[in-house]
Amino acid sequence: MRYAAIVVALSFLILASLATIGAGAPAAGAGLPGRPAQPGAPERDTIRREREQLGKLLFFDTNLSEPRGTSCASCHDPRRAFSGNHGSTIGVPLGSRPGTYGLRNTPSLTYASFIPPFNIDAEEEVLEPKGGQFLDGRVSVLDQQAEGPLLAPLEMNNGDRATVVAKIKAAYAPGFKAAFGDDIFSRGTNRAFLAVGAALKAFESTATFHPFSSRFDRYRAGRLVLSAAESRGMSVFFDPAKGNCMVCHLARPQIVNAVAQFTDFGYETLGLPRNPAIPANADPAFFDLGLGGPKRRAPRGDPSFNGAFRTPTLRNVAVKEAFMHNGCFTRLEDVVAFYATRDTDPGRWYPHGVRFNDSPAADQQYINVSKPFGRHPGDAPAFQGQDIDDLVAFLRALTDEEFEAALPPLIRSAAVPAR
Ligand code: HEC
Ligand code: HEC
Repeated sequence: MRYAAIVVALSFLILASLATIGAGAPAAGAGLPGRPAQPGAPERDTIRREREQLGKLLFFDTNLSEPRGTSCASCHDPRRAFSGNHGSTIGVPLGSRPGTYGLRNTPSLTYASFIPPFNIDAEEEVLEPKGGQFLDGRVSVLDQQAEGPLLAPLEMNNGDRATVVAKIKAAYAPGFKAAFGDDIFSRGTNRAFLAVGAALKAFESTATFHPFSSRFDRYRAGRLVLSAAESRGMSVFFDPAKGNCMVCHLARPQIVNAVAQFTDFGYETLGLPRNPAIPANADPAFFDLGLGGPKRRAPRGDPSFNGAFRTPTLRNVAVKEAFMHNGCFTRLEDVVAFYATRDTDPGRWYPHGVRFNDSPAADQQYINVSKPFGRHPGDAPAFQGQDIDDLVAFLRALTDEEFEAALPPLIRSAAVPAR
């Protein structure tokens, strides 16, 4: 995190959040045919609702994969805050074809509609990429995003746009015409395909995906008192000498009306342990460098972005089955302990104590060493013991009420065996 940017980022964040809320879900169809340029408010509402309902049907439709059987919800499980790995336990999801696995862990889609478009702060001396969809921001906005999973061979594996559009036309023609105009299927495959993205975006922008109903939200609204452990954990989270988590997982509970998203939408390289179970990692020369590729090109070809991934929101993180872009952790307790002891006890995290085994040697200089990182082997960690348990309790309090049933049993850190 570059500190100079915090104030800018904060004001941007607030504005962006307000803009997103103010806009609600519509505007998805800008540029789509068959509608007056500026429909009146009631008509806009009807169109929006039609798109939301259509998006919901598409989201759960298992016919939209090859072979059939996998829907968006197979990986983005509504019980787990729209995260999950389709039954895979290796940290990355199973695709629609048996035995195929993706490269990255599935993010929760809750609060994804608040992610700003991919942008780079060009006025800064240091480039500051922010936002964008996917963990490397390679797609700028949510409605362009659907192409990824629908066509990706390791996800839903529909060979091309025309295959998807043919399926949509067979199953949803009346709905699509109502939501996007009678000519939606007569003006080319690309238009109809864009409408699929617009419908999914409309659904993903509904309140189902951002209920703001967590214990933390209820506490902020003055409706609930946090438990002693949650309250202590919140202090560790915001303490610059301990967790220092808010530097990247931005949240300003003290600012009235600021929506706490628990991310500044920036990109950071954490030097995570390699996940040897990811099939692509069987090649020791392969590295997933996020902003640095392989799924995109680094902004301005700058190698300092190698290994950087977008800081995710921490809302609903506690119900995920795996953590971090490579799914290298399956227990939240491990994630929190990793922040505390990555540098003080590397033997706990990397085989044979060889640090940063998921980063090429030339890129290790770009790994973040600011607090809570940046200590030396044998130093006291920035926080430990009770603080770890308390931080976990606080992160669990960021779970929306709707998903609380998916919370795993609590493990006390003293009982967490060394990996
Ligand atoms: C096989 C599992 C799988 C399926 C099926 C799947 N996704 Fe995803 N989804 C992922 C993974 C993995 C990522 C992260 C990929 C990356 O960053 O490269 C992701 C990322 C996303 C994102 C970006 C979220 C963010 O934080 O940037 C959105 C939005 C999304 N998926 C929506 C969908 C929709 C809509 C569908 C159905 C059309 C779908 N997904 C189907 C696994 C899946
Ligand atoms: C330097 C910025 C930075 C700081 C400081 C930071 N984080 Fe993170 N955090 C990230 C980034 C970036 C990721 C995603 C990394 C990846 O997947 O490669 C992440 C991921 C996570 C995840 C996993 C999220 C998921 O969906 O898998 C958790 C949990 C988490 N952080 C908690 C914390 C806590 C608790 C602290 C304070 C002790 C903290 N973070 C401090 C940047 C940061």
